Parts: sequence; C-alpha cells; structure tokens
Amino acid sequence: MVVFKEQLKQKILQILKELAQRKGLDPEGIRAEHLSVENPPKPELGDLAIPLFPFAKVFRMPPQTLSSLVGEELQQKDSLPEGIDRFSIVGPYLNIFLNRSLVTGLLFQQIRTEGDRFGSSSILSSKRIMVEFSSPNTNKPLHLGHLRNDALGESVARILRFSGATVRTVDLINDRGIHICKSMLAYQELGHGRTPEDEGLKSDHFVGKYYVLYNELAKRDPEAEDRARNMLVKWEQGDPEVRLLWEKMNRWAIEGIKRTYERTGIHFDQFYFESEVYLKGKEEVLKGLEKGIFYQEADGSIWVNLEDIGLDRKVLLRSDGTSLYVTQDIGTAISRYKDWPFDVMIYVVASEQNYHFKVLFSILERLGYEWAKNLYHLSYGMVNLPEGKMKSREGTVVDADDLLDELTEMAKEEIRTKEREGEVGDLEGTAGKIALGALHYYLLQPSPSKDIVFNPRESLSFTGNTGPYIQYTGARICSMVRKLDEVPQVKERTGKPSDLNTGEEWELVKLLFEFPAMVEQSAISYNPSLLANYLYEVSKTFSRYYHEHPILFAENPDVAASRVQLSRCVLQVLKNGMHLLNIPFLEVM
Ligand code: ARG
Repeated sequence: MVVFKEQLKQKILQILKELAQRKGLDPEGIRAEHLSVENPPKPELGDLAIPLFPFAKVFRMPPQTLSSLVGEELQQKDSLPEGIDRFSIVGPYLNIFLNRSLVTGLLFQQIRTEGDRFGSSSILSSKRIMVEFSSPNTNKPLHLGHLRNDALGESVARILRFSGATVRTVDLINDRGIHICKSMLAYQELGHGRTPEDEGLKSDHFVGKYYVLYNELAKRDPEAEDRARNMLVKWEQGDPEVRLLWEKMNRWAIEGIKRTYERTGIHFDQFYFESEVYLKGKEEVLKGLEKGIFYQEADGSIWVNLEDIGLDRKVLLRSDGTSLYVTQDIGTAISRYKDWPFDVMIYVVASEQNYHFKVLFSILERLGYEWAKNLYHLSYGMVNLPEGKMKSREGTVVDADDLLDELTEMAKEEIRTKEREGEVGDLEGTAGKIALGALHYYLLQPSPSKDIVFNPRESLSFTGNTGPYIQYTGARICSMVRKLDEVPQVKERTGKPSDLNTGEEWELVKLLFEFPAMVEQSAISYNPSLLANYLYEVSKTFSRYYHEHPILFAENPDVAASRVQLSRCVLQVLKNGMHLLNIPFLEVM
C-alpha cells in the first residue's frame, strides 16, 4: 500500500507545482509535508483520499476550486499512476480508487515470498537499541505489575528487531539494599536453615515468604529494622557470613524468577546485577563532587541541586557513605554504555518512577555524557485486579505465577465446557498458551500509559476484544486449510486475484496491506497497543467475511481457491503480529 501512496503523492505534488508555475506562483511554496494520503471514512468514497485544503492558501482559491483543477489535470494527463483505476472529487478531497486485482495480486505475491518476514523492514537498521525491562528485586517473586512490564518490554524489543534495529534486551536485577536484607534477616532469625525443597515451594516464593515474615516481625519488634540496617552495613563491608547468606537467597530468588520468564516466553541478552555496578555510581558521584557538579552537606552527605530545571535537591550518597537507588542507576547506565554503546536506551519502568528517571537523565547530562539525551523512559500505568479477586499472600500484590496458574485452570475449564479436549490433544499445553495469549493481549491492548484493571474471566473470552479471539481466528483458518484435502478440485487450483469480487474481500486486502505500516508505527512510538488493536480489526473483519461467504465450499472452485489464498494471507499476518506481541499461535484450540 505504501508504494501506491508514495507514487500518488509524487504525482499530485508534481501537478500542484506545475499549476503553481503556470499561475506565476513560487512552486517552492508547495511543500511535500503538507500533502497527506488518508483513508476515507467510508469505502464508497474511495480507497485513498488526498485533502487539498492545506494548499488553498498558496493558490489563493477555495479548496473546492483547487481540487477540481487538480482533477482536470489528472484527467488530461491521462496517465494515472499504476494501480489507480479512477478518481473522484468530493469537495476539497481528491478520492482515489485502486485497481483491486492488481493490488490483491501484489499482496498475495508479497506475503507468499516474505512469509514470516512480511511486515518487517529496515527502517531502524542503523540503530542499536538497548531495552531494559522487568528488573525485579530479589526479595520476592514477580507480580502482576512485572507481567505488564515484561509483556511491554518483550514486545517492544521484538517489534524493534523486526524493524531492523540491533536490539539488546537487559534485565537489571536489584539484588542489594535494605529490602533484600529484610528477607535475609527474617530467614536468618526464623528460617532454621530450611530450603525451598524442604517446604515444597518454588524458590523465589520461598524467599518472598521471608519478606512477608519480616514485615510481621517488624510489627512485633521495632528493633528489627535496626538489625536489617546493620546487616546492610555488614554486607557493604563484605562480611563473609552475610555475603554467604545473601548469595544463597539471591540464587533462590533468581532461579525462580528465571523459571517464570521461561514460562512467559521472555528473553534477555544480558543480566546486570546491581551489586556489581552500584560502586561505579558511587565513584561517579565523588568525581562529580570534585568537578563541582554536586555539593556536600555538613554531615558529609552528597547532593545534587536540580531546582534550576524545576526538580528538587536530591541526595546521592548518605552521610554514612551508603548509596541510593539513583546512585546505582548512574553507575548502571555508564557501565552499559561502555559494554555496548547504544543509540537509544529504553527503560521500561512503571509510571511511579517518572520523577526518578527525570532526575537520573538530568544528572547524567550534567556529568557530561553525550548519550544521556538518548535515554527514554517507557512509562506504564498500574495493573489491578477487580475487587476481591486473588489477593496474594501479602494481601495486596498479585503473584505472577499464581495468576498464570489460575488463568491456565480457567482456560482448561473453557476447553472442557466446549468439549474440545479430543481435538486439542495436549490439554495442559494448549491451556497454558491460551492463558498467555489472554494475558499478553489484555496487557498490551490499552496504551502503555493507561492504568488497567485485569479481569481474568474477560481476558479469556473466545469472543470480543481478547487474545484468545485472535488465537481462535488463526486456529479456524488452520482448520480450514486442513480440510482442503476433502475438496481436491479447490486444492489443486491456485487462486486468482480477479476472482475476488466482494466488498469484504477488498476490505481485507486493504487491511492486510496496512500491516507493515502498523508495525512501523508501533516501532517508532514504542507502542505495541497499535498492533494489538490492528490484529483485533483483522480478526473481526475476517470473521465477518467468513460468516457471510462460503470459502472452501464456494460454488465456483476458482473462487474457492482464491478465497483460501486470501485466508492464508490473513493467517500469515495474524501469525506475524502475534509473534510480535508474544501471543502464542495455536493450530488447534
Ligand atoms: N527494581 C526496581 C523496582 O522494583 C525497578 C528498576 C527499574 N530500572 C532501573 N534502571 N531503575 O522498583
């Protein structure tokens, strides 16, 4: 579609410039960026529309007069660009009708040759983009918020890669600090050397249990906090006993967390550990102090003053020399750039931390790092469950593994009620994939900045704006393709674009041709929701078509073959799009 739009644009631009010249106006006044090619609101109006009012002023005439003039020119030239059948003038608009079989033929051919790569491009081919996401703390397992984070990070990374960028996904494991010491303290005092195996718990859940126990302990015993602080100081001093305990518990936490990543199809190219980079931040702060970028208070603490840019004063090193969250982030960013110089680094982190990232980016800029202007905070809203659903052990946070289990159970129920266990075969595997499809779609469909309420039941519905509905559309086409053996007269034919004559087919062709542009838009705006909504549109349009027209059993086998061909194109687009959103594809469900 992009080709036609571009050709058309050039043609109209040329006509406008010639017209201007003839009228003694400066053709330089005709600017390409004022020319847009739009989709008309109703299909009867045409396939593409060019509004001419942005040029009316230059020509000093009403837009309607200008559009008629352009129309006359197009007519006279008698050389409509390739693929364009005819046009009409409606008010200030030039409406274009494309040659349906030519466009359809092109789509068939392109999807056939590109297959799994259809929709990919090289728009970002010179870019090295680092995407940081997930970044859990090692005192507890992943929760619902991480699932949204992971869904976004993984999808953005896949979309950027598909658009040609060299992408490196990284996970920053926050493995040090007072919160980590809290679960360690509870374990030391209440754990009696037990292991996750002893208690039959997934290892990160085991660690999380002690974090909960710490909170209970701290309520009973006001000195617990001091003991945890003391442990942190010992940790910083490298106390062997504390370090040993720390290593053991971190191993448990990280092993468990990685199992959840495997389950959700999340991949990282590199893990960073806060414990390994936070000292680097400390050094930078001291250097900044020497250079006069930061200042020191009487108690020895080191600060930055960002009031001149509308932010606050912020402490970077406490008086006891311990560092803060932002301190380690300074070190982490610098280490990463050294390891892998990037053009852009995206931090996928909740909107609660908007202020933190403003501060961080400004500090790095002040320290003189050129690349600091290429740091981007991909901020996303909160995720909640509807009131009363699945409270976690702590009573507030919803555990990721528990939620996945629950969704899988519900998907199994759904398969059983539909009496599809036989067809599906692997009940557990299929239900797991449906659960992931439901979850990822639900989390990616709204724009990232919106807060959302995750409704498990709604997310799993096989109809409506859901992941399973999209999976189901794909599975339905697969089942149709399998049935092709039953109709050899259709199977042996290759479809011809000219056999497709219904409005629904043309609508589908145009929609499928938009896929590469959708991927591109999602890539440049770091926004998978555009793609999610697009896939829903494709599924809906196909379902309508499928209900209104026989495909395999169309009366004329040539028409049937062409319809199958079109359905295969839908399938390929759904598959490619689902991969980019990390929604598992299912042949049967
Ligand atoms: N672990 C942090 C938290 O749970 C998020 C880390 C985000 N990434 C970063 N570079 N600061 O709040």
